[in-house]
Amino acid sequence: MNLSDNSKLRFAVPGKGRLREPSIEMLRKAGYSFRASGRNLYATCTSADIVFIFVRADDIPVLVHQGVVDLGITGSDLVIERRADVASILPLGFGRCRLCVAVRNSFEDNGLESLEGKNIATSFPVMTGDYFAAQGVDVNCIEMNGSVEIMVGLSLADAIVDIVETGDSLRDNDLRVFSDIGRYEATLISRASLAEDPRVLQVKRRIQGILVASQYSMLEYNIRENLLKQAEAITPGFESPTVSRLDQENWLAVKVMVRKNEVVQVMDGLEKLGATAILETEILNCRL
Ligand code: PRP
Repeated sequence: MNLSDNSKLRFAVPGKGRLREPSIEMLRKAGYSFRASGRNLYATCTSADIVFIFVRADDIPVLVHQGVVDLGITGSDLVIERRADVASILPLGFGRCRLCVAVRNSFEDNGLESLEGKNIATSFPVMTGDYFAAQGVDVNCIEMNGSVEIMVGLSLADAIVDIVETGDSLRDNDLRVFSDIGRYEATLISRASLAEDPRVLQVKRRIQGILVASQYSMLEYNIRENLLKQAEAITPGFESPTVSRLDQENWLAVKVMVRKNEVVQVMDGLEKLGATAILETEILNCRL
């Protein structure tokens, strides 16, 4: 395959790590077919003019910034850490994490000043430097490429700055969160100059369709006409409910999108109001 073929969008996807599987699954659901075997570093999309490039999530902000790829999926933390001048197109709702300062469980908490002059191990030297500088605390940052949690136990560092997702890595290493630097998630990014490009906007719309669909269910129910207003108050819908007349006099059928995490309570409320034939169905994809 010719990687310098400019007729195709170059789309960088995490080829390893925790962002890989959810990224590939989301792209497939959004209609992009491609072969992603563990060893392939690129794959031609068979359903769109796109070449997918599989690289490390931490390199993707730089590749997009440099313009050697057009689009990418990476962590919003990595965009900041790499000081990448890219367009953040769409937060993707997975890979949510915090960047935290963490210390040994036994560390005495006298505020951030207690870290003045201390060694901080991290693979986020830029964000760590910015954070402590903004707090007016002078620290010595030691840059690592991974396994940062062990550095306090090894006495290389007094504290670390690292990603916390479940908190298991901190617990396993006798560490605890000392302070929060920020919250981040996987994000679709593009070259700044391509933010409004129709091909990029189409990718965004397709992915948005999948994301909204994953958060909502379709709820259908029958309700007496005189109770419609009350029913609509329980189920206002994404925009507004679709209402049609049933064969039975004074009865209406309502079809409406409801947030998945509210469906059970909404069904309880509708049932109490007198709605019948309340059905939840899964939405696979949508354009709103
Ligand atoms: C990240 C991070 C922590 C861990 C936190 O590492 O560096 O080590 O995840 O997750 P937890 O709170 O759920 O335990 P990752 O697994 O991405 O690998 P890395 O060490 O190569 O960065």
